[in-house]
Amino acid sequence: MTTLTALAPAGLQVEPDAASVAERVAEALLQALRDGATLGLATGRTMVPVYAALRRRLAALSGPERQALLAGWRSFNLDEYVGLGLADGSSFARFMQEQLVDPLQLPAGALQLPNGLAADPQAEARRYGAAVAAAGGIDLQLLGLGNNGHVGFNEPPCPADAPCRSLSLSAATRQQNAGAFGGDAGAVPAQAITLGTADIRAARRLLLVVTGAAKAQVLRRCLLEPPGPELPASWLQGHPGLQVVVDAEAASALPLH
Ligand code: GLP
Repeated sequence: MTTLTALAPAGLQVEPDAASVAERVAEALLQALRDGATLGLATGRTMVPVYAALRRRLAALSGPERQALLAGWRSFNLDEYVGLGLADGSSFARFMQEQLVDPLQLPAGALQLPNGLAADPQAEARRYGAAVAAAGGIDLQLLGLGNNGHVGFNEPPCPADAPCRSLSLSAATRQQNAGAFGGDAGAVPAQAITLGTADIRAARRLLLVVTGAAKAQVLRRCLLEPPGPELPASWLQGHPGLQVVVDAEAASALPLH
C-alpha cells in the first residue's frame, strides 16, 4: 500500500470536521503570532471558519497581550485578482478587510496583498515578491487547495520554482470561484497576481488546509502522485516544514489504514 512518506513526520492531521480543522489551524496561527512570525495568508471559503476561530482566540486574550500581538502583526497574502481593489466586494483585499483587518483593527500596512489595481500587474508582482523577500520571507504560510491542484493562484502547468507573477486563470478556477461573483464564472477576472511556487516553498513552514469531500481526490493526488507541473500543490511534497490539516471528508481517499 502507498504510504504518506512524502509528508514530514506528524505532518498530516485528520480532524473530524471543518470546525475542528479551523480550531487547530487558528491555534497554530496564534502560536505563530506569539513567536513574532511573518504570516502568509490565504483566502477562500476554507479560511472563513479559520479566521473566525482566530478572531475568537484573540478576543479571549487579555487586552495587553492582544494589543501586543496585533501591534506586531506582519502578513502577506498569496494573491489578488487583477483589476480588483478594496472597493470591489469580490476582491481578496475586501475579503481580508472583512475577515481580519476591520474586526481586529490591524494597524495600517500590517496585512499586505498584491495590488490588483496596479497599472502594470507584472511589475506589481515583482515588487510584491521583492517585498516578501525584503521582510525576510514567510515563516508560516497558510494554504488552501484549488480543485485543480492550484495553491495561491499557481495554475497548472506550473514549475516548482515559479516566481511571483501575473498570470491567466484557468476556466476551472474561474468556475470554482464564481460564487463570489454572483455565480457567474464570466465575471471572475481573467488574470491574477500570485506568489509563486518558489516563494511558497521558501516559507519555513507550510500549513495546507483542506476540507470537504469534493477535494478528497485532488488532495490524494497532490500528496501521493509524483510531483509535477500538472498539480502545482504536489511541489509541496518533501518540504521539511509541511503540515497538512484536513477533515475526515477530505482525507477519505488517503491510504491511512
Ligand atoms: C482561491 C485562492 C486559493 C485558494 C482557493 C480555495 O482560488 N486563490 O489560494 O486555495 O481559492 O478556495 P476555497 O477554499 O473556496 O475552496
